[in-house]
Amino acid sequence: MLGFGTMRLPINGNNQAEINEPEAIRLIRYAIDQGVNYIDTAFPYHEGNSEAVVGKALAGTYRQKVKIATKMPIFSIQTKNDLDRIFELQFKRLKTGHIDLYLLHALMKQTWSKVEELAVLDWAERQIKKGKIGQIGFSFHDELDVFREIVDAYDWAFCQIQYNYLDEHYQAGVEGLRYAAARGLAVVVMEPLAGGLLAVPPPPNIQRELDKSGVKRTPADWGLQWVWSHPEVVTALSGMNSMTQLQDNLESANNSAVNSLTQKEIQALAKSRELFQQFGYIGCSKCRYCSKCPQHIDIPQTLTFLNEFATKRRDLSAQAQIKREYTAVVPTERRANNCIRCGQCESICPQHLPVRRLLSETAACLQ
Ligand SMILES: NC(=O)c1ccc[n+]([C@@H]2O[C@H](COP(=O)([O-])OP(=O)(O)OC[C@H]3O[C@@H](n4cnc5c(N)ncnc54)[C@H](OP(=O)(O)O)[C@@H]3O)[C@@H](O)[C@H]2O)c1
Repeated sequence: MLGFGTMRLPINGNNQAEINEPEAIRLIRYAIDQGVNYIDTAFPYHEGNSEAVVGKALAGTYRQKVKIATKMPIFSIQTKNDLDRIFELQFKRLKTGHIDLYLLHALMKQTWSKVEELAVLDWAERQIKKGKIGQIGFSFHDELDVFREIVDAYDWAFCQIQYNYLDEHYQAGVEGLRYAAARGLAVVVMEPLAGGLLAVPPPPNIQRELDKSGVKRTPADWGLQWVWSHPEVVTALSGMNSMTQLQDNLESANNSAVNSLTQKEIQALAKSRELFQQFGYIGCSKCRYCSKCPQHIDIPQTLTFLNEFATKRRDLSAQAQIKREYTAVVPTERRANNCIRCGQCESICPQHLPVRRLLSETAACLQ
C-alpha cells in the first residue's frame, strides 16, 4: 500500500542536491525491511542525486526485494538522442541492469505532443524487448480530458496521478482514477498528503470538522487513509524524510483497508476540503520543479508563507507575525518583489499555478 517516494529525501542544509546519504539509505532500507516493495524516483529529483542514492540503498540483496520506478523527463528532452543519453545515465546511477517500472514523467498536453513527435513509446517498447525495462506507464499533471486522451492512446500498464482529499476533483481526480482503473491500468497515487500541506495540523476550524467525526487521527493518517480507502488505488507513494514520518506512515499502512472510512469520516474530510478552498489555499506541492528561478526566489517557501497568511485572514496580529517571519527568514535579494516575470516557473509548474501573480501578491502582503 505504501511506496517510498524519493523526491523529498533528507538533505544537508537547504541545498536539495545535497542528500543526507547515510540517513536516506537508512530510511529506504528500513522501509524495505518493513515490507515496502515499491521505490519511486526520477531523473531530476534532488538535481539528479535521488536515483544515485536509491542505487546505493539497494546494494546487495535489497535490489531483489523491490520494484524500482523511475521516469524519463519528457519536459527536458529535445531529440531522440536525449532519450538514450538519459536512459544510459539512469542505469549507471541506479546500479541496476533492469528498471521494473518506467514512466514518462509529468505528462501534460504539451509534453504528450512531444511523446508522439519523438515516437517515445516505440523507443520504450524497444527497451522492453531488450529486457531493460519491465512495464511502461506515465505520471500526469493536467486536466481530466487530457488524461482520458492519454489513457486511451496506448496500452499502458500503469499510471501515477496526484490524488488526495483536497484534489478529489483536481487534474485527473476521482473520475480519472476510476477511468484508468476501469481500463486495467494500475493506479499509483503521488502527493497523497498534498506534498506535506495535509500532514501539518490544520487551522482550528478544519480540526473541529475532523473531530466531529468522533475519530482521532494525526493529519497525515487522515490524508493517507482517505487515499487507501479507494479500491482503485494500488499504491500511495509518500515522500518521507525522517524516521518518525516513515514509522507513522508504515503504521498507517498497516491499519489501512479498502472502503475503511465511514460516511461520517468521509463527510468530515469533504467539509475540510471546502474550508481549505474557502481560505484560498494555494496548491503548491513543493515539488521544486521551479527551483531554477533566475532570481533565486524560493517559490515553494514563498507560497507556504502566503498560505499561512491566508489562513490567518481574521487575525491581524497573527498576520503581522507572519510578515515579520517572512522578512526575518528570507534575505532581501530573494524576496518576492525581485521577480522579473520571466514565467519560467509557470511553464514547468505541475500545478499550473499563476506564480508571477502569487509572487506579486506576496510582495504586497508580506513586504
Ligand atoms: N511524477 C511526478 O510528476 C511527481 C510529482 C510529485 C511527486 N512524485 C512522486 O510521488 C512521491 C510522493 O509525493 P509527495 O512526496 O508529494 O508525497 P506526500 O506524502 O504528499 O508529501 C510528502 C511530504 O509530506 C510530509 N509527510 C509525509 N509523511 C508525514 C508524516 N507522517 N508526518 C508529517 N509529515 C509527513 C513531509 O513534509 P515535510 O517535507 O514538510 O516534512 C513530506 O516531505 C514523491 O516523493 C515522488 O517520488 C512524482
